[in-house]
Amino acid sequence: MACAGRSRPGHAAILGAVTTKTYFIRTFGCQMNEHDSERAAGVLQTMGYRPADTIDTADLVLFNTCAIRENADNKLYGQLSQLKPLKLSDPSKTVVVGGCLAQKDQEGLAEQAPWVDVVYGTHNMGRLPELLSQADSAELPVVEILEHTEMFPSALPARRDVVHHAWVSISIGCDNTCTFCIVPALRGPEKSRKLGDIVSEVRSLVADGVTEVSLLGQNVNSYGRDLVRAGLSDATGRRNRTMFAELLYALGEVDGLERLRFTSPHPKDFTSDVFAAMRDVPAVCEQLHLPLQSGSDRVLKAMQRSYRARRYLDLVTEARETIPGVAISTDIIVGFPGETEEDFAQTLAVTETAAFDSAFTFEYSKRPGTAAADMPDQVDPAVVSERYQRLATLTRALSRHANERQVGTVQQLLLEGPSKTDPTRLSGRTRTNRLVHVPDVGGFEPGQLVTARLTDAASHYLLGEVTDAEVSDPVGAPAPARVA
Ligand code: 5AD
Ligand code: SF4
Repeated sequence: MACAGRSRPGHAAILGAVTTKTYFIRTFGCQMNEHDSERAAGVLQTMGYRPADTIDTADLVLFNTCAIRENADNKLYGQLSQLKPLKLSDPSKTVVVGGCLAQKDQEGLAEQAPWVDVVYGTHNMGRLPELLSQADSAELPVVEILEHTEMFPSALPARRDVVHHAWVSISIGCDNTCTFCIVPALRGPEKSRKLGDIVSEVRSLVADGVTEVSLLGQNVNSYGRDLVRAGLSDATGRRNRTMFAELLYALGEVDGLERLRFTSPHPKDFTSDVFAAMRDVPAVCEQLHLPLQSGSDRVLKAMQRSYRARRYLDLVTEARETIPGVAISTDIIVGFPGETEEDFAQTLAVTETAAFDSAFTFEYSKRPGTAAADMPDQVDPAVVSERYQRLATLTRALSRHANERQVGTVQQLLLEGPSKTDPTRLSGRTRTNRLVHVPDVGGFEPGQLVTARLTDAASHYLLGEVTDAEVSDPVGAPAPARVA
């Protein structure tokens, strides 16, 4: 299928020269995609591109796509059809689609949207300049999807929107086989970066003004196992410490790094040395995102999540006992195939016992190619939706309760900028990652650390005011009782 009248900005020339063209990146999905988009922006800026204010005015539009749930697919195809008239009226506009959905749909994407110029997958973002150059002379979309990673995206230049915060990827891919999840098929097996490379990246980010780093991996606490297996580990090798704990201690030595976060660990791989590192390394924030997925052992088994509800709650207890004031968030899927009312009641019960500070809740979405997609007893969407509402009501109440517990305390805030809903306020985050709005009395900069007294709570935010008072002792939910 030929796409008439392609005339693009001459990327062959851009490969070695500077352009005055502009770009706009739309990112769907998870933090790993945000990280990858910062790299795509870095690559484009190295080619001379500058950011555009809107999608309509950009010379190049890049969609960094997600495939984790069906609504992510729908959103991309919706946005692509919105862009179509613009592209057809101005063929010099370049449209690029990259990331997970591109990896999943490959040629199918180019067939559905033949006016797209470049399609690349999860493993080859570094090839963007060459692919753009090929697209100059191609009649059809240039599609390049690789099965294996050529280089870590972290090795590419990054352009970050926020000066004080950076995502740092510690591993890519996933070796797990959760039956609902498309990620391993799209991002490949787990591959860890060398510890020394991660520490160097963090050091240079801090030298560049970054004070807060979020470590990223599909399963951060199995970090480094592949390196150890291959004899490639460059950790100092303290006995009885996992590579992930080693990494936290090593990053704790980086002067000027105020806050260190990570996402996501897997409950089955969680070890006590990581809790100890969270307690002992001052930069590591009192925040833990620990995906539960389901509170029913039967469903966890069918999901191939090899922990059970009891083990999960023991981890919550250990976290709350070891790290004073820790805030725990989670991911929960409702309506996995075969989930009964009794299974769902167990999810509600575990959620309540864990007293989550916040939760991301999802309706199960059937992903063709995953084991769960072919399971019998797919749950009626009306039942899923009704259970979802019940769970959301509970998690909202728990979040409000957790925030109310903070009222009256004085906490450190890292200011992010003006509030999105009220320009008279500034928004910031506590170390526990709670969103707090304070009156903007002038003289504050994004990235600045201030102290605030928290005065009011809602489910998703708190209000406060900047103060000179001392930071309070942390307050968290009580630890669930251990069952012998
Ligand atoms: N349906 C619904 N939610 C899913 N997740 C992953 N795959 C699916 C799916 N098929 C959720 C999990 C995971 C989070 C990132 O997305 O809860 O932890
Ligand atoms: Fe998907 Fe499970 Fe891997 Fe997370 S751990 S990316 S849910 S397969």
